Amino acid sequence: MNNFEEKLISKLDYLKDSTVKDAMIYALSGKGKRVRPRLLYDALKGFNCDFNVDNIAVAIEMIHTYSLVHDDLPAMDDDILRRGRNTCHIQFDEAIAILAGDALLTEAFNLVSRANLKSEKLVKIVRLMADFSGANGMIYGQEIDIKSEGKDSDFETLKTIHKYKTGALISLPLQIACVVSKNDELIPKFKQIGYKLGLAFQIQDDILDVTFTSEELGKSNSDLENQKATSVSVLGLEKATKLMEDLYSDIKSELENIDGFNPDLLLKLIDELTERRK
Ligand code: IPE
Ligand code: IPE
Ligand code: MG
Ligand code: MG
Ligand code: MG
Repeated sequence: MNNFEEKLISKLDYLKDSTVKDAMIYALSGKGKRVRPRLLYDALKGFNCDFNVDNIAVAIEMIHTYSLVHDDLPAMDDDILRRGRNTCHIQFDEAIAILAGDALLTEAFNLVSRANLKSEKLVKIVRLMADFSGANGMIYGQEIDIKSEGKDSDFETLKTIHKYKTGALISLPLQIACVVSKNDELIPKFKQIGYKLGLAFQIQDDILDVTFTSEELGKSNSDLENQKATSVSVLGLEKATKLMEDLYSDIKSELENIDGFNPDLLLKLIDELTERRK
């Protein structure tokens, strides 16, 4: 993650000066954990591959950031605090936040098309990005999340929400690492590990939402008020915590048992995630 914060912004230098560009940079430069780019870099190192994937790492963080900008809009979670500061639509306005989200998504694909990799690999990567961020991926989960507000959801529905709204974009960088390093046969394995990691990560996000203040989290904690289907509303805090811990430990043993893959960096990342407080 060498100079990732700088790369994240400088990769957008080619864009015309505009309020939308300012809003894109504003949303990107808040204090995000950068988990998804780190998954890409760490998985790639696990395959002992040193191709330059900066454009792809930045693109994935742009797609994730777009999902947050839109997630916070009044028509969705209606939140005011994100990454320690005003959400994009509060800092700018709703129209600019919608456009900035649209532009983050679109320019992410633009950047990937300019990555210095063989075109066969780029086509596979673009397809994965579209599949996992689009209407069969993150967006599908966001739709069920919104439709489940105020309803009594069961555990199966909750897992579907978490799989798509969060698991998809967590799984994506792991699968891309397989493509870049020419380990395509491991895509199904890493896809499934990514979904599991996304489930653990979102269960934890739900837990943090009710156990910390918004100041501590650096983002609004509106799940209760929005009557969201969350791991806490469906399972209760105790069961949710146990499930999250079991998932994290499962994932670690799975990572330790993949032939030809050095899991050390990902294991360290998972330990950091387990301890996270925001
Ligand atoms: C927030 O993601 C949305 C979820 C999927 C839980 P992160 O917790 O990775 O948010 P940032 O990028 O660190 O702000
Ligand atoms: C959002 O889940 C997941 C996506 C943005 C796709 P949440 O709505 O729980 O995320 P936060 O808590 O606002 O970060
Ligand atoms: Mg949401
Ligand atoms: Mg939200
Ligand atoms: Mg949340």
